[in-house]
Amino acid sequence: MKFARIDANDDAQFEAWFGVLQRSERNREGAPGQGWHPDEWRARSIDETAPKVFRLYSYGPSLDHPVAVGALEVTRDDNLAFIEGSLFVDPTERRRGYGSATLAELEACARELRRPTLVVFVIEGSGEIGVGPNRSFAAHHGYRVAEENVRRDLAWPRPKGELDRLWDEWVACASDYEIIWWTNATPEELVDARAHLSAIMPAETPHVDIDVEAEHWNAERVRRHEATTDQMGRDLLVSAARHRASGELVAYSELTVSRDQPQTAYQWDTLVVRQHRGHRLGGLLKIATMRLLEAGQYPTEKITTINSTLNTPMIAVNEALGARVAGAMVAWRKDL
Ligand SMILES: CC(C)(COP(=O)(O)OP(=O)(O)OC[C@H]1O[C@@H](n2cnc3c(N)ncnc32)[C@H](O)[C@@H]1OP(=O)(O)O)[C@@H](O)C(=O)NCCC(=O)NCCS
Repeated sequence: MKFARIDANDDAQFEAWFGVLQRSERNREGAPGQGWHPDEWRARSIDETAPKVFRLYSYGPSLDHPVAVGALEVTRDDNLAFIEGSLFVDPTERRRGYGSATLAELEACARELRRPTLVVFVIEGSGEIGVGPNRSFAAHHGYRVAEENVRRDLAWPRPKGELDRLWDEWVACASDYEIIWWTNATPEELVDARAHLSAIMPAETPHVDIDVEAEHWNAERVRRHEATTDQMGRDLLVSAARHRASGELVAYSELTVSRDQPQTAYQWDTLVVRQHRGHRLGGLLKIATMRLLEAGQYPTEKITTINSTLNTPMIAVNEALGARVAGAMVAWRKDL
């Protein structure tokens, strides 16, 4: 058996790598996976100079025929105390030690990259919340749960009049703020403020056992994020809140939808700066991005969102919007 990093530009290696991931997702969901499409993995795996780039690894008799695959997300400047990864064993090849062997190799790569902690993210389908194979496997290898997240799906489109009703109810609490929105490129005059919000976002979400720091963002990184998302074949539907008195941008929310496979839209970041919380801005921003989804006439069937189980305010907003539990995502950590 051989373990090696694959070249995402090599069609045979990449397709074999993605095949294992795809069969693993199908096995979990009982249907084609909801995760990133091949072009999206590729778009995030080829630019070595990017602030975050995936390294893709295969394990098997040859790189064209892996039995297990993994990924590590290498950050250039941010959160160097840990590295995030994932691992999938082909469903027909499980319980033969391949998962353990691949995990040991990923740990060796993390050490080589001088990251003292490996955080492995795992998605569980609706039928395996809390009981996926990861629970025994990760514990067996000395990992502990660092974060429990729940995935919720919101059926789309919403019943007629529902978004208007919620907007009218919530907007009364937010008279000090102006809600604005755009698709794809951030208006030039907002790019610096947007970069600041993206920088603090990772540190502002609740984490149990991972010490996540703010990231390094500037206008150039915002533009790069927009370009990578476009390269992934996705549109970015963004809303933001401006504090009327100070003119400051104090909140933003990002919904993304694939132009080729728009059935599932994904909620990405939503952040309201601490001192501006409690004005229903989170819910209003989400409705504003849904208006863009409506206006774009995407044939979307659901919006998926993932929240830490500790994030009570965001979960309350999602439930009020009508989102319902559809799966989980666990982060396992091991100090190497
Ligand atoms: C979890 C996963 C990676 C395990 O891969 P694998 O090749 O089957 O694992 P191994 O054969 O190396 O198993 C090692 C040990 O983990 C435990 N384990 C693995 N799968 C298990 C399961 N389904 N139920 C109970 N224990 C399990 C066992 O202790 C096993 O040792 P044993 O077979 O001698 O009893 C695989 O099921 C998978 O790809 N799942 C979906 C993605 C995922 O969860 N990835 C991240 C894991 S942190």
